Order: sequence, then C-alpha cells, then structure tokens
Amino acid sequence: MKKYKVGMIGCGKRAMLHVPALLADERCEVVGVCDINEEAAAAMSAEFGSKPVVYTDHKEMLENEKPEIVIGCLWTILHLSTFQDCVNAGVKVYHSEKPMAPSWGDCVKMGELAKSSGCQLTFSHQRRYCKGNIAVRKMIKDGVFGKILRMDLYSPMNLLDCGTHTFDQAISFMDETPAKWVLGAIDAKEPINWFGVSAESMAAGIVVFENGVRAHIQTGGPDLDMYTGVRVIGEKGFIEVEWDGGYLNSAVYADPSWKPEKYEHVGEETMAAMMKDFVDSYENGTEPEIDYKKGLRATEIIFAFYESVRQNSRIELPIDIDDNPFVTMLEAGKFN
Ligand SMILES: NC(=O)c1ccc[n+]([C@@H]2O[C@H](COP(=O)([O-])OP(=O)(O)OC[C@H]3O[C@@H](n4cnc5c(N)ncnc54)[C@H](O)[C@@H]3O)[C@@H](O)[C@H]2O)c1
Repeated sequence: MKKYKVGMIGCGKRAMLHVPALLADERCEVVGVCDINEEAAAAMSAEFGSKPVVYTDHKEMLENEKPEIVIGCLWTILHLSTFQDCVNAGVKVYHSEKPMAPSWGDCVKMGELAKSSGCQLTFSHQRRYCKGNIAVRKMIKDGVFGKILRMDLYSPMNLLDCGTHTFDQAISFMDETPAKWVLGAIDAKEPINWFGVSAESMAAGIVVFENGVRAHIQTGGPDLDMYTGVRVIGEKGFIEVEWDGGYLNSAVYADPSWKPEKYEHVGEETMAAMMKDFVDSYENGTEPEIDYKKGLRATEIIFAFYESVRQNSRIELPIDIDDNPFVTMLEAGKFN
C-alpha cells in the first residue's frame, strides 16, 4: 500500500472535521500541521499518533516536510496564494475549503494553475457525497420525476459562502449542466464580511441552465420556504432536498403511495467519503467528484449574479470579468 505524506494548513474549525477521515485512511500520514496560531496547530498535532511537526509558517512546513497532499482550511482570501505556494513547493494534491476565491479572476487563476501544474485541485463541496444527494442524482437519472423543468434553490446568506453549496448541488442533479444566463438582485443595505470577503445579506434571482431548466434562487432574507437545498420539479413529480441530502416534501403524481427511501446523514462519513475520493483519484488518475472544474461552474453563477447587479442586466455565461463586482461596488460607495 502506497503511503502519502499529508500537510495541513489552517487548523481551525473546518480542519478538525478532517481528522477522523485522516485517521481512518491508512494511506495518509500527517507529517506537518501549520497555523499562525501555534496553539491551534499544536492541538491539531495532538490528534494524530504520528505527532506531526507543528509550524506557524506554511512555506517552512512545505520545505521541511515535503508533503505530497495538502489540506488547506483557510479563510477564503487565502485560498489562491496558499495554493500557489503549494504548487511551487511541488505538492501533488491540494484540497481546499470552499468557496473557491474572493474574485472570479482568482478562481480562474486557481483553475489555470491546477491545469498547468498538474496538481490535483479539489474544493470542499462535500455534500456531493451525502447518501441522500447520491440517491437523488440516481432518481433523476432513472426518470422518477420525469424531465426536470424547474428548480427552486435556497441557502442562508450569502451567495459566495453558502450559495456555492446550493449551485453545486443543483448542477450535480443535472449531470453537471452549466448555467446559460443569470439575472439577480441583492440586498446590500447591511453588508456582512465572512472569512475575509464582503457580501450581501440577501439575494434573489433567476438562473436558466443550458438544458432549459429554470431556477429561482433565494439566499438569506425572510420567507424562505426551504432553508437550504434544492426543490427539483419534474414533469412527473418533485422532491425537496436539503443540503445534506435530507428530504422534505416529495411526490410522484402517478403513484400517490410513492415515498423516497430516507438516508441518515452522518457528517464524519461524508468527510471520509470525500477524502477517499480525492486520494483514490490521485492514485488512479481519475477526476474527483469535487474537481475544481465543477467548482468553477457553481462559482461562475455567483459572480455572474453580482455582475448582473452591477450592469442592471441579464448576464450570459461565460463571464469575462476579473473582480468581485460586489466588493468593487461596495468599495465605490454604490450601496451607501
Ligand atoms: N465546506 C463547508 O461546508 C464549510 C463550512 C464552514 C466553513 N467553510 C469554509 O472553511 C474556511 C475556513 O473556515 P473555518 O471555520 O475553519 O475558519 P477558522 O477561523 O476556524 O480557521 C481558520 C484557521 O486558519 C488559521 N490561519 C489564518 N491565516 C493562516 C495562515 N496564513 N497560515 C496558516 N493558518 C492560518 C487561523 O488561525 C485559524 O485557526 C472558510 O473559507 C469557510 O468558508 C466551509
């Protein structure tokens, strides 16, 4: 069995959720853990029998430990620069927290760098591995709900940090079909700042996908009739699927007795399935379920949405912008 040296950068809340999966996968040996807060790194090191070396500077960790796999659990503003440092140090597999990056230009740069370097790049859209979501993908493929016509998409605020999960979930339900155009509106009266990126407190709009499916979206704000997830509406029935694959209402119109089998969501299992997939993919040269190219599809909708607000216009994909239009508008005082 091949063993891989693993490094961790950022040892906060999300990083801790990777620990059970790392302990369970015998191929992974954590050799170094890094956090600018030494106590956090030391606490992470204590989780592993291998007693990984504690660092407060990730470049030093990369140079000394030469990990093949790095898991980056950092605030969004650090995702691109840390990935660049890892590629420069010869890292072969980089798994990053979502969302991809604070601006569309940075997201594209991450993708280009993954492609040119050959470093396998994935993002924590871990909900793709929830059993309930896997089962819905199969039900849709098997035609249980007939041709999909519409979707309602929901998440807590905001588009970038939370919306990314919902867009990714919707795209996964449509066999990775990308969006065609977006028209959106935001509530920017009381901007928030999560993980170093400013954002709106509510957004609502419409996304039309290349297969003709029309999706209404609301992130944050009042009167959400689902808090997270996707309502999939087909010709023959519908199902409401929460982020982690829990089902709310559902129906198959021709069979009133139909009920979907329900699956318990166990967070640890989901995280373990994600890690197994990105390590297996590296070993076998296959594309992980959470590959950056899928991340880009979900993320492009977010920046197209902000661009729609900037231009007061419907936006066709692909978009050709570099910045985060929300942040540009905020800094220009547009929302004052
Ligand atoms: N996938 C999901 O469902 C999900 C859920 C929540 C959060 N997130 C994402 O996870 C990311 C991190 O969130 P978190 O809750 O773990 O944050 P956190 O604040 O708990 O942890 C971040 C850690 O990074 C450390 N850090 C900061 N700068 C550093 C540097 N230069 N080098 C090394 N360490 C550094 C901090 O000291 C901190 O310990 C965010 O981007 C967030 O959007 C994802």
